[in-house]
Amino acid sequence: MENIKITRAATLKEKPDSSTLVFGKNMTDHMFLVDYDEGQGWHDPRIVPYGPLQIDPAAKVLHYAEEIFEGLKAYRTADGSIQLFRIKDNIDRMNKSAERLCLPQIPEELAMAGIMELVKVEQDWVPSEKDTSLYIRPFMIGLDAALGVHSSKHVQYIVVVCPVGAYYPEGLNPVKIYVEDQDVRAVKGGTGMAKTGGNYAASLRAGDRAEKAGYSQVLWLDGVHRKYIEEVGSMNVMFKVAGKILTPDLNGSVLDGITRRSCIQLLKDWGYEVEERRISAEELFEAAENGTLEEAWGTGTAAVVSPIGELAMGDKKVTVSGGKIGPITQKLYDELTGIQWGRVADPHNWITKL
Ligand code: COI
Repeated sequence: MENIKITRAATLKEKPDSSTLVFGKNMTDHMFLVDYDEGQGWHDPRIVPYGPLQIDPAAKVLHYAEEIFEGLKAYRTADGSIQLFRIKDNIDRMNKSAERLCLPQIPEELAMAGIMELVKVEQDWVPSEKDTSLYIRPFMIGLDAALGVHSSKHVQYIVVVCPVGAYYPEGLNPVKIYVEDQDVRAVKGGTGMAKTGGNYAASLRAGDRAEKAGYSQVLWLDGVHRKYIEEVGSMNVMFKVAGKILTPDLNGSVLDGITRRSCIQLLKDWGYEVEERRISAEELFEAAENGTLEEAWGTGTAAVVSPIGELAMGDKKVTVSGGKIGPITQKLYDELTGIQWGRVADPHNWITKL
């Protein structure tokens, strides 16, 4: 692998107060870039001052959403060191998304070096306030400047980072979720399992409607039957029903969330039965009505483990766990964040030290 060339910013930004961070708004001083050209492969890895990209207005990414991304975090531990969570899983998933979008595979070593070196350069930006971290956003864009619909031969992989607090303004307080019955996010055979911008563009209208009605996000139903639940805007979902954990299976239109995987592993470690299967919205509302829906929560890198306190569908509304965080949701949050911030042991080797 070529050496990463580092050009330092002439002036550094003032760092934000870490007790009032808003998710994704405070970008740091530098970013990582590497180019890909067909026939040449990946070349010119570099860290440069953070700033606008120069993109040809005809670039494919701007017209045909030839884009994929990832989200992961770096955590400041009690002894002041910095560590990352499941970085290789993120890179592996990025390459799966790349395959779906006809973008080039990026060698793990290069993708990882870009992330690690950038976090090293920006280490003073990794906050130490409770529940804060440095969010890492690697992404890949197709840059061929031509309006024909074809995959790009010139591509960039870029990494930007920003200190973050809780994703939802509610913090660990339960969020209200609306079951979306008009728009769909993805269908099997589409791009639902890929982490690509287009899936999120398709989600904006329903998200806006839900926000106007007082909900944090929507719970998507499958695109074919409009019956089975899939995922929420920025997280996977799990439910505790009559003592068992239920979560939608990875049917091709649900994102293979890394926090989802981690929670399933922890729940199994604790002896819970976890059913990954088709779950209809009707089944959930019935469970809520007959008192067996004990807890609901979302999982995601940004959202971590977020309790769901209310579910609504049409004119039906149910409160989950008395509108409070349930005990398993709390335990998962504590264990997962304990591993991430180095407060508890890491039995599955999920941590990489900077
Ligand atoms: C993440 O959790 O890292 C995500 O990528 C979700 C994002 C859309 C905020």
